[in-house]
Amino acid sequence: MGVDADWWRGAVIYQIYPRSFQDSTGDGIGDLKGITRRLDHIASLGADAIWISPFFTSPMKDFGYDVSDYCDVDPMFGTLSDFDALVARAQELGLKVMIDLVLSHTSDQHPWFKESRRDRSNPRADWYVWAEPKGDGTPPNNWLSIFGGSAWQWDSRREQYYLHNFLTSQPDLNFHHEPVQEALLDVVRFWLERGVNGFRLDTINFYFADRYLRDNPPLPKELRNDSIAPGVNPYNHQLHLFDKNQPENIEFLRKFRAVLEPYGAAAVGEVGDAQRGLEIMAEYTSGGDKVQMCYPFEMLQPTRLTAALLEETFARMNAVAPDAWPCWAYSNHDTVRHITRWNLPEAAARSYTVLLMCLRGSLCLYQGEELGLPEADIDFEELRDPYGIEFWPEFKGRDGCRTPMTWVTDNSNGGFSEGTPWLPVKAPHLNRAVSAQDADQTSMLNHYRRALAFRRAHEVLRTGTLSGLRAEGDVATFVRGGEETIFCAFNLGAEQAHVGLPEGTWAAIGGELGATAAIGGEVTLGPWGYCLMRKV
Ligand code: NOJ
Repeated sequence: MGVDADWWRGAVIYQIYPRSFQDSTGDGIGDLKGITRRLDHIASLGADAIWISPFFTSPMKDFGYDVSDYCDVDPMFGTLSDFDALVARAQELGLKVMIDLVLSHTSDQHPWFKESRRDRSNPRADWYVWAEPKGDGTPPNNWLSIFGGSAWQWDSRREQYYLHNFLTSQPDLNFHHEPVQEALLDVVRFWLERGVNGFRLDTINFYFADRYLRDNPPLPKELRNDSIAPGVNPYNHQLHLFDKNQPENIEFLRKFRAVLEPYGAAAVGEVGDAQRGLEIMAEYTSGGDKVQMCYPFEMLQPTRLTAALLEETFARMNAVAPDAWPCWAYSNHDTVRHITRWNLPEAAARSYTVLLMCLRGSLCLYQGEELGLPEADIDFEELRDPYGIEFWPEFKGRDGCRTPMTWVTDNSNGGFSEGTPWLPVKAPHLNRAVSAQDADQTSMLNHYRRALAFRRAHEVLRTGTLSGLRAEGDVATFVRGGEETIFCAFNLGAEQAHVGLPEGTWAAIGGELGATAAIGGEVTLGPWGYCLMRKV
C-alpha cells in the first residue's frame, strides 16, 4: 500500500501530556507504557493521530521542553523499546504518532551546550547564540525572555552572554550555523526511521534570531495583544521584529520538509506571536514546500472566540495565502482550559466542539477536553510550573491544565497513578472521569465521539473549501464545499437568534449532535444553538 501523504489534512490530533496521562510504575508521573495502555480510549474517540509532548531525556526544568538528548527517552517515561511498543499499538489502532520536537533550544545539560560553553574555540563554540556584553557589561540588546527577565544570561567561562527565549537553562541554538541545522535534521531522521508519522514543532518561528542582534522596538500599549499572561509580562511590550520570525527560517523549513517527504510524514508548527501569528502560520504552510500545518494562538486566547473573531481570523489568513493550512485548538498544555477560560456553560462547550469539527483545517484536542474538564484550581504550594511561580498570582501558570487525566471515579487519583501524583487530582475532575461518562449517551465524552464521527462521515469538513464566512451579531455562518455542500450556522451567544438559509434546497443533518433543523428556509437558534444543513 502506498503512503497516504495527505493523512494530516483535516485530521483530528489528540494531544497527550505524558506526565499526566497514565502512570504505570506508581511514581506519580505518567509514562509511555501508561500511554500505550490508554490508546484505546483515543481510538474510541475517533481521533486520527496523537501528539505526545516531549518524553526525551531532560532535567525537566520546563517539564521536557528542555531536552538533553534528542534521541533517547527519559528514564522517568520509559525506554526506546517502550516507545516502539507504543508505535506498534497505535498502528494496530489506526492512529498516527506525532512527537514533539523542541529544536529552537536545548537544555543547558545537553552535551552540545556543555561543550559550547567551555571556551570560545571548541568545535561547538558557534552552536548557540553567544554575544559580547555592551561596554558597560550589560546584555547585548533589549530582548526579553518569555519566562521573565532579560533573554541573555552571562557565562563567566566565555565572558559572553548566551540567548535564551525561555528559561536560562534553555539556551537557544544558533540556526545560522549550518552544522546545527544538519544535526537537527539528523534527529528528525532518527525518529522517522523509528516509525513516527510526524512532529509537533515547538516554537517554530523562534529558530533564527537576527544576525545583527538588533533591538526590538517598543510596542505601544494600545497595540498589545497579550495571549498567555495578559498584562503581567513585559515581553508583550515589544514588537518582536528581531528575536524571532526571521526570513531565513523559510529556507530551513524547506530543508525540513524534504526530509519528511519520503516518509509521508507531516508536521504542525507552533507559531507564538501576538501580532502576526496568523500571517506567519499562513506563510509557513502555503505552497506545499514548508510545513503542512501550523497553529497560531487566535483560539487559545483569554478572549472567547466570537463570531466576529472567527470571521476576522479566516479573512486575515486568506489574505496571506488561501492555501494556508491551520491547525485549530481551544486548549493545550500552555493555556487555561477553554471551558474555564471562556466561562462556558455546558451547552456552549458542546456548541464550540461542533464548531471546531466544522472548521477548515486540522484540529488538536487536548487530553481531558473530551471529558469537559475545567481548569484545576491550584494553590501556590502545589505549583510546579516555573512560569507560574515567576508571575504568581496575577498569572497562575500552566499547572491548572496539566493535572492528571481522570479515568475512574472510585479512586482518589482517578486511576491515574497508584502513587502520589506530581500534580493533584481535584474533585471536579474525578466526577468527570471516563468511567462516569463512557456509557452515558448524554455525556460530554459521547458528544465528542459523535462530533468526531460526524466530521469523519463528511469528507468535505476535513478537506473541502470554507466560504461565505459571515458574522451577524453572535451568529457565524459559513459553507463547506466539496463532494457535498454543507451550510453551518452557530449561535455563539446566550440570546435566541434567527438565521436564513442560502438559496437552494437543504436537508437537515447532525440531528444526533443536537443540531436544530431549519424549516422553510429559516431557523431559530436557541442560546448556543447550531444548524447544519446539506444541499440536496
Ligand atoms: C512552547 C511549549 O508549548 C511550552 O510548554 C514551552 O514551555 C515553551 N515552548 C518552551 O519550549
